[in-house]
Amino acid sequence: MCGIIGFTGYLNSADVLLQGLSELEYRGYDSAGIACFTENGVELIKEVGKVAALKAKVPSDFHSTCGIGHTRWATHGGVSEVNAHPHKFGKVTLIHNGIIENYHELEKELALTGRYPVSQTDTEIAAMLLDSLYEGDAHETIKKAVERLEGAYAFLIMFEDQPEVIYSIRKGSPLVACQSEQGSVIASDMVALLRFSKDYFVLPEYQIAKLTKTSITVTDLDGELVAPEILSVTWDTTAAQKNGFKHYMKKEIFEQPEAILRTISPRIHKNLCADGHEQLLPDFSADEIDDSVFTGVNRIIVTACGTAMHAGLMGKVLFERLLRIPVTVDIASEFRYQNPILDENTLVITVSQSGETADTLAALRLARTAGARTLSIVNVKGSSIARESDYVFYTHAGPEIAVASTKAYTAQLSAFYMIAFRFALVREKITKEECSEYMHLLLDTIPAIEEVLKQTENIKKISKRLVDSENLFFIGRGMDSALACEGSIKLKEITYIHSEAYAAGELKHGTLSLITEKVPVIALATQSDVLSKMVSNMKEVRARGAMVICVTTEDATIESNIYDEKIVIPTTADIFAPFAAAVVLQLIAYYTSVARGLDVDQPRNLAKSVTVE
Ligand code: M6R
Repeated sequence: MCGIIGFTGYLNSADVLLQGLSELEYRGYDSAGIACFTENGVELIKEVGKVAALKAKVPSDFHSTCGIGHTRWATHGGVSEVNAHPHKFGKVTLIHNGIIENYHELEKELALTGRYPVSQTDTEIAAMLLDSLYEGDAHETIKKAVERLEGAYAFLIMFEDQPEVIYSIRKGSPLVACQSEQGSVIASDMVALLRFSKDYFVLPEYQIAKLTKTSITVTDLDGELVAPEILSVTWDTTAAQKNGFKHYMKKEIFEQPEAILRTISPRIHKNLCADGHEQLLPDFSADEIDDSVFTGVNRIIVTACGTAMHAGLMGKVLFERLLRIPVTVDIASEFRYQNPILDENTLVITVSQSGETADTLAALRLARTAGARTLSIVNVKGSSIARESDYVFYTHAGPEIAVASTKAYTAQLSAFYMIAFRFALVREKITKEECSEYMHLLLDTIPAIEEVLKQTENIKKISKRLVDSENLFFIGRGMDSALACEGSIKLKEITYIHSEAYAAGELKHGTLSLITEKVPVIALATQSDVLSKMVSNMKEVRARGAMVICVTTEDATIESNIYDEKIVIPTTADIFAPFAAAVVLQLIAYYTSVARGLDVDQPRNLAKSVTVE
């Protein structure tokens, strides 16, 4: 939520900030703004809408070498220029990602000192607080301010009488920084630093970074110097660009075969058997996930949000089938307030692409406090969830920029499958032979996805039939029911068509009343054990007039008079079908959104990384 960037160095800071903001725009795009030191002091330029609108407002001769920039996802205060960041109060100019929960109380106190905000934001109150405390010592001011601030924040702060210097502190919300010959840069996400360096550090919480043109110093609140761990980006720097695709989402859909392979292949151990044949076994020694994590566990809880939670729904089916251990999947924002039952034999798996989702992070912290074992499936290296978990399984999907998650989801699925196989092996629920067979089938999902990617023209044509729909259903049974949830969120978030995911057998208990000839149904029929039941459910909706798009496997026999369109994925063992079927659903959502003329990568009201509650 909200993208922030600061630069001080030897380049035109407005150019650096505007470029960085367009790279961070996926984090929020309600308004954007910059504040820069110029010969006239600190100058602010803000605009409602996207970064392109802000860019058009910045004069071509605007000169500055130090500034901060923000792209907003509105929380407190509507979408307006006055509420856009940066906020300036007295000598303080700042930008913020997060929410100040006690801003109301602070506002009342600050009114007693004659300070009143002009905006409706919590952020301006933070600027007022810093201004009220500032007597020339930035470190001391920030220290005193954070003692008063409740909530989550990443701040970039400039003091009018300290030109060319940016200060920063964070709690909860992410910040990464790097130093290069061109200057010092700090931002919400590594994608905005890549032009400067592949080496960066995550600013530790409650520590203050001071950026000058030639250095970044980090100190704790007591002023002691800190040396944060330097991390390196392992992916190619072009990975965060569109590379010829019209949208990031399409590019990321097409990157799935590599993303899955990158996630699986470093964790394959080739075991040479006595008879000379080779077994493929999952091996997490490089991840330092010891087998002892899996022993003694009698309950598994998966907690996450959105698409990551849907990957967990698939993990549940898999774990319960292979391990016979009860698994619950909880939405992180509910889990954290449910007083969940946790102990040292509970394994809590948190799943997050960004590793910064506020609710998932809070759920993880709760699980740790209660003494549960914690394992996270995370895409972004060094992110908060990764750092705070007992064990981390990194997906290697590479940067995912489109708000709609695609490659992160299938990479999360592959992580769940590998964990389930290793878990089952350790608990002697499957033999090495069986495990190796599963690993081969997991790898076979890659060519299966490639087969789906060859069908894009057909899927595009079929998607046109959905363009004018207002309501739609995804139905399925077993794993297809879990996949229906993912198909539905993907479609609704980027097409704005209302859709519901339903367990196919449940429709007749109420929801069938909503099915008419105006309500298309996407029927997922990839699970052979429930195929005949699914066929009956398809007949039921078709009999009520629904246009049925059936997603099924090559070998499934389904009478052609019970669907209007059929999309076929390669046949595999049932538990591996969700990979290719997920890609079909992603493409349906993508092409429907394109046909409706919508902003595929940046759908309204949403943001990529949800760092507020
Ligand atoms: O970064 P995370 O995986 O924790 O994000 C969780 C959700 O916000 C995310 O999956 C969201 O649902 C996607 N936009 C769905 O495509």
